[in-house]
Amino acid sequence: MEPQSARITGWGMYAPQGVLTNADLERLVDTSDEWIMTRTGIRERRVAGPGETTATMGAVAARRAIATAGLEPDDIDMILLATCTPDYQLPSTAAFVKEAIGNRRAAAMDLAAACSGFVYAFATANSMVRSGMARHVLVIGSELLTRFLDFTDRSTCVLFGDGAGAVVVSASDEPGGGMLDAELTTDPSGAYLIWVPSGGSASPPSSQTVARGEHFIRMNGSETYRYATKTLASTALRAIERAGLTADDIALFVPHQANLRIIRFVANSMGIDMERVYVNVERYGNTSAASVPIALAEAVDAGRIKVGDNIVFVAFGAGFTSGAAVVQWTADPANGRRARSVDDHASVHAPADWQAAAPVPDVLMDVLSRNGASPAPVAPKVHA
Ligand code: ACO
Repeated sequence: MEPQSARITGWGMYAPQGVLTNADLERLVDTSDEWIMTRTGIRERRVAGPGETTATMGAVAARRAIATAGLEPDDIDMILLATCTPDYQLPSTAAFVKEAIGNRRAAAMDLAAACSGFVYAFATANSMVRSGMARHVLVIGSELLTRFLDFTDRSTCVLFGDGAGAVVVSASDEPGGGMLDAELTTDPSGAYLIWVPSGGSASPPSSQTVARGEHFIRMNGSETYRYATKTLASTALRAIERAGLTADDIALFVPHQANLRIIRFVANSMGIDMERVYVNVERYGNTSAASVPIALAEAVDAGRIKVGDNIVFVAFGAGFTSGAAVVQWTADPANGRRARSVDDHASVHAPADWQAAAPVPDVLMDVLSRNGASPAPVAPKVHA
């Protein structure tokens, strides 16, 4: 039977303990704290330890979202994981999350829409719940970008960080609330402006592609910047209009945290005061699909969102993609306290007869050690 509404009942996040500061990056590439702060607003970003993967980080955020919702892992009947940094090309990272959270009944799949991935997955979850196909959908954005960065390329390596965020979208027999409407766009004219050239079927990996660094993220920053400032505003406004609202009706904007300049420019062009915009880019950098759900979890737990508030998720990213969702908040923000009982550990079973290479780039191991931080502070136990 179709429910009356699909509502966010749970939220949670996970940020690995390792911290990479602008001062650390000054030692790796020709850059400065001053350049990074004025051009991006980023002060530091998190780095996953050797025992962590996109799946283990996503699983911790997911278990927090399930706890917040007051559910058990087996209540989840669908897992959607948005990422552009999966554990493997095959199988899906969502399958490992299912194992790590101890769920026995959900279907699980990944969704690729880069930094817009969480908004795309959230809109998909909403449709699945509204249609009666699923009752509780776990939506995760998890990214381990520091393993896909060229730490000799100052134009990209200063921007990105690791982390995960998640929500649970649940069927409700009460009308109203939840996602009021959404706008999703894809513009392939920007396809090669943010990309990883090799590793896929168009350019399979070889010793030559690796020697040329084609397995790292490449980006045309200024073209992306131009696209982002234009599209974030138009996508958000279109979603708000489709929901029958105006920007004045929105209590809080939760934008993709790519760059403080972009966020400020967009808020200004929409006539929105920065008090109505949640910002944490200074602490995490750009965590791609994880950035909106991390920001959401922090905003709710900080008391920035109340029952009845209209909020907007808005993101843009490689593709080019953009996505915005207007949500009427219904959950008691105090439920976030339930996530405190969930520890920082998650594990998946290791492959038989296979020893993976040390995953963390050497330069980051050096930096984390020099900072006095253990390079594997919260490394989960990967068991065979
Ligand atoms: N330190 C010092 N100088 C640098 C650095 C650095 N880390 N990086 C670039 N520069 C230099 C450039 O070489 C250039 O020097 P030049 O003028 O001598 O050639 C100068 O700074 C200006 O470079 P621009 O790229 O024009 O700088 P800009 O002001 O555009 O800022 C930035 C660059 C921060 C990347 C910006 O363009 C941006 O934020 N773009 C959007 C990126 C983004 O948000 N991507 C999100 C999607 S990612 C996804 O979907 C996975």
